[in-house]
Amino acid sequence: MILVAGGSGYIGSHVCKMLAKEGFDIIVYDNLSKGYESFARWGRFVLGDISDERQLDLVFSRFKIDAVMHFCASIEVGESVVDPEKYYINNVSNTLTLLKVMNRYNVKKFIFSSSAAVYGMPDKVPIEEEAPKKPINPYGWTKLMVEQILQDYDRAYNLKSICFRYFNAAGADPDGEIGEAHNPETHLIPLIIDAALGKRESIKIYGTDYDTKDGTCIRDYIHVNDLARAHILGLKMLLDGGKSDVFNLGSESGFSVREIIDIVKKVTEKDFKVIETERRPGDPAVLVAKSEKAKRILGWKIEYSIEEIIKTAWNWHQKL
Ligand code: UFG
Repeated sequence: MILVAGGSGYIGSHVCKMLAKEGFDIIVYDNLSKGYESFARWGRFVLGDISDERQLDLVFSRFKIDAVMHFCASIEVGESVVDPEKYYINNVSNTLTLLKVMNRYNVKKFIFSSSAAVYGMPDKVPIEEEAPKKPINPYGWTKLMVEQILQDYDRAYNLKSICFRYFNAAGADPDGEIGEAHNPETHLIPLIIDAALGKRESIKIYGTDYDTKDGTCIRDYIHVNDLARAHILGLKMLLDGGKSDVFNLGSESGFSVREIIDIVKKVTEKDFKVIETERRPGDPAVLVAKSEKAKRILGWKIEYSIEEIIKTAWNWHQKL
């Protein structure tokens, strides 16, 4: 049985759908603070918070859990700067509670959602896993701290973990059952799609004076199902007795904000207003992953192009 903490959220729910397809038994453990109960369609659903040791105890004592996948986190970079307490409590302290209960029940396999935010402003792109870790906001620090905790837990308690450092997760389930719906939405692709749908008047480009080919920021967008597949491969590796490791998950190709806007216009055949405005604080000019390690060790590969990312997102948003 696999416990998926945060299985009702965007990435967690896509992983659950894939786990179910692969024949795994799943428990979705989620407080529904950001996720949706309608996304918990695979496996059993338990309403609970990872800070709630008693509730976790009930679940771990009732079910034989083989591994835990952990997708619960606060993810808004800007908010983490103004309210770091929320981030350190939710992302670090509550993760420690989950790990404590795992230890109590001798559950020793853990998959963790980390982030490219651990690298901060990279000196070199594409970014390798060994690149310096220099987070520039509390959100990035919380992810790096948990990575450190996991290294120490492996040494001390033999807890084996895989940390996946996501670049820009995007796209939706090709069957249109689940997709990306943050509230508030801050991510580029869903915001552009809302503009294409007429739900917002325009899309703003944050900064046109970066040192990039067209002056706008370049990011590495990766389809959520490509992310999900890496999680299944990582889980299987741990269940087969594999060792702890850390992997970047990105497509290894970068697209500028302007390019993404153009692709959305092309795929949706809609036009909308684009407003050029000042930079958003804390945005690195270019973030592109080197993902060779995940390919080599996990046998992972990218299946979705940027057009497919936009198409699947568009299909899902139209149904909302
Ligand atoms: N952007 C705009 N207009 C918008 C929204 C975003 O121009 O309305 C730009 C941003 O400035 C950035 C790019 O589009 O250059 C992508 O922005 P997102 O907010 O979609 O994603 P980020 O790259 O800022 O953040 C992602 C994850 C974070 C993670 C970070 C790692 O969403 O969780 O990568 O650096 F921390």
